[in-house]
Amino acid sequence: MLVLGIETSCDETSIAIVENGKNIIGVKTYSQIKDHKKFGGVVPEIASRIHVKVIHNLLLELLNETKLSLKDDIDLIAATNRPGLIGALLIGVSFANGLAFSLNKKIVGINHIEAHIYSAFMTNEKKPEFPIVALVVSGGHTFLIEILKIGKYKILGRTLDDAVGEAFDKIAKILELPYPGGPVVDKLSKIGNPKAYNFPRALIKDVKKFDFSFSGLKTSVLYEVKKIKQQNNLEKLDDRTVQNIAASAQRAIVDILINKTELAIQKIKPKSIMVSGGVAANSELKSSVIELASRYNTKPFIPHISLCTDNAAMIAGLGFYKKQFAKDYISEVFTGCDLD
Ligand code: KG4
Ligand code: ZN
Repeated sequence: MLVLGIETSCDETSIAIVENGKNIIGVKTYSQIKDHKKFGGVVPEIASRIHVKVIHNLLLELLNETKLSLKDDIDLIAATNRPGLIGALLIGVSFANGLAFSLNKKIVGINHIEAHIYSAFMTNEKKPEFPIVALVVSGGHTFLIEILKIGKYKILGRTLDDAVGEAFDKIAKILELPYPGGPVVDKLSKIGNPKAYNFPRALIKDVKKFDFSFSGLKTSVLYEVKKIKQQNNLEKLDDRTVQNIAASAQRAIVDILINKTELAIQKIKPKSIMVSGGVAANSELKSSVIELASRYNTKPFIPHISLCTDNAAMIAGLGFYKKQFAKDYISEVFTGCDLD
């Protein structure tokens, strides 16, 4: 079965064709990063307008490259319908509805968070075994989830304030680094000293809860930067200080994520651990999760970097799954409104 996936929930316009939920035939993504860079974050109105501008050509390019015909080859259309920027979501959903109506194809709405989870099922040779403890870490969301099977989830914890990707982006902004902050903080952390500053690890003493908090860390970085500038009468931090703050902040973020994931492992005793979403591209998080998994004798599943940040392949992949197993497909959490 060939599924056409459409993703427009934030600042990536992406179209993909995936066979049987796993085999990626083609993906075309327009990343709007450079369009939002000068504003230091995503501007919803601009995001919607760019989706409108590029979506049609991306589809034509994908069809041209794959030599597939929408009418003859595509069996199903899947589009992200929540959560996300409402104007941006509307472009993808309307585009998908237009295609489905004119071509008389079936259409399925996909929850973006659930698709991030599904992406970890798409790339690995080995099959993840249940139960799974999954960490979904992106620019807009931070969840710790128990997966009993695809479609059956229990949310163990979530962020009480900033999402973890948002924390990376805000810390980068304070350090006057470009948007998005995650990749650049990741890069600088490789040369900085992670022990140079002792930033707070919120909520890690509360061993009964799995929730996260990152806004205090961001504020602490802000105060530290102000203090260093004042004490040394500086307009701008020197490179070494920026590298050390980046490395120390990243170490605090990874410690928080690993601490709560470890608590969840002790409670659930999972067979597999998953990390997905944009922040799953982080090199320190990846190596720490692999180390954690080996300590608890479970298998780690982290998508290939191309499937970590927003993409339509994960949307098409989950679309196949929902259609194929619709009869006993539950998705109690993610089809509800509690994440919208
Ligand atoms: O999943 P995603 O593409 O979009 C949302 O659904 O939000 O995630 C984007 C987020 C951004 O905040 C970005 O800074 C972060 O993922 N990110 C990273 C890395 N690469 C992307 N964070 C830390 N380390 C990275 N290497
Ligand atoms: Zn995402």
